Amino acid sequence: MKKQSIVIAGGGSTYTPGIVMMLLDNLDKFPIATLKLYDNDPERQGVLAKALELVLKEKAPDIAFSYTTDPREAFENIDFCMAHIRTGQYRMRELDEKIPLKYGVLGQETCGPGGIAYGMRSIGDMIELIDYMEKYSPNAWMLNYSNPAAIVAEACRVLRPKAKVINMCDMPVGTLRRMSQIIHKEPKELTVNYFGLNHFGWWTSVRDTEGHEYLSEIREYVAEHGYLTQIEVDTQHMDQSWQETHKKAKDLLAVAPEFLPNTYLKYYLYPDYVVEHANPEYTRANEVMAGREKQVFDAARKIVATGSFREGDFHIDNHALFIVDLARAIAFNTGERMLLIVENNGAIANFRADAMVEVPCIVGSSGPEPLCQGTIPTFHRGMMEQQVAVEKLIVEAWVEGSYQKMWQALTLSKTVPSAKVAKELLDELIEVNREFWPELH
Ligand code: NAD
Ligand code: LMR
Repeated sequence: MKKQSIVIAGGGSTYTPGIVMMLLDNLDKFPIATLKLYDNDPERQGVLAKALELVLKEKAPDIAFSYTTDPREAFENIDFCMAHIRTGQYRMRELDEKIPLKYGVLGQETCGPGGIAYGMRSIGDMIELIDYMEKYSPNAWMLNYSNPAAIVAEACRVLRPKAKVINMCDMPVGTLRRMSQIIHKEPKELTVNYFGLNHFGWWTSVRDTEGHEYLSEIREYVAEHGYLTQIEVDTQHMDQSWQETHKKAKDLLAVAPEFLPNTYLKYYLYPDYVVEHANPEYTRANEVMAGREKQVFDAARKIVATGSFREGDFHIDNHALFIVDLARAIAFNTGERMLLIVENNGAIANFRADAMVEVPCIVGSSGPEPLCQGTIPTFHRGMMEQQVAVEKLIVEAWVEGSYQKMWQALTLSKTVPSAKVAKELLDELIEVNREFWPELH
């Protein structure tokens, strides 16, 4: 097996240690020659990189490890870029979540006005990363987790249609783990059918290796408990706010009982509930800063201070879990079946061909091949038409610098009550995002 060379873009991400631990756990299946970290914030990346340097020295001294803020050094001679950047960092996530709440609208990282604001920040930086990769390692693939994945994926389709970029999400993986607990199976034993947009989709089938269908059994459980399970199945989606989200899946199912819903549909089906239960002074960004970010950076600082690493200091989470399967599928043509965000082109038969949709794909060395999911019902299709139009308008607004299209995008979002509120929100979001958004006219 050829040893692979990897750069992790967003080296200072809270998820970087988890991904590195995952890679180290799978060296027999996915051997690594070189591992580099790349970030545009040297201080933030430095804390994690110094700790990971010690971990690698101990666990895999043969891997050439380095970290840099220089794009050429980062992107030269690589096979894969695993990207998870956050343009504007947590400071901006906090504003994305808190500003909409002032107008009685939900504030969320990837959904509604917060996600729209974040999308407008991410597009330019993601295109820059793709261009670095294509310049310095034209044969490499980018496996992108950076959010908001739906808007980033649409921007890639429009602006870099030939680039070797695969956009993906860990939420379906995390929820499938919960489903596997419900039916006492291992996630790897299950094959699913699914259709939707990113953070906006439904499972239509969950089968085991013998082909037994579990949809009804899981639906019965979810109708009562949502995706809340007794056993800890997740290292990532365990905070209080996530427990409420898993539970709320019960009410999502009640609206459209035939299929199993993605948890993020809560923001589109029950935006009033989300606003009523939000604390405008303390949102998810605050919870993550006080939780995951603090834990990861404290652990890194401790490793550096003591010069030693203990198992359990860094965790492998959902985010890392299937990134290795995906990289292996491309590097060694394994034909793995995975949910990915790809151009529709008929995979959902009665949905627009040029939408970026989330469906099962077979992945080999030439990338993902989407599997046809047939036709979808009017309710689901109607919701998806509205949401995909929002995502397309945002990318058009970014490209054209169009204030009008941004106003339309916010107006069309199911989370915003009127064009008036959309305009007020847009004007405030423009003010705080001047450093990141293109100028709108
Ligand atoms: P984080 O802020 O801890 O890390 C992001 C890092 O990216 C920071 O160190 C930042 O300095 C760096 N960065 C920002 N712009 C950059 C650029 N242009 N070039 C290089 N580095 C840059 O954020 P996090 O909470 O660890 O999340 C990282 C990303 O992963 C976010 O986009 C988040 O939304 C995403 N995420 C995706 C999924 C998914 O399944 N798709 C799940 C969870 C998180
Ligand atoms: C995160 O933890 O930041 C993401 O997994 C999404 C979220 O809001 O929890």
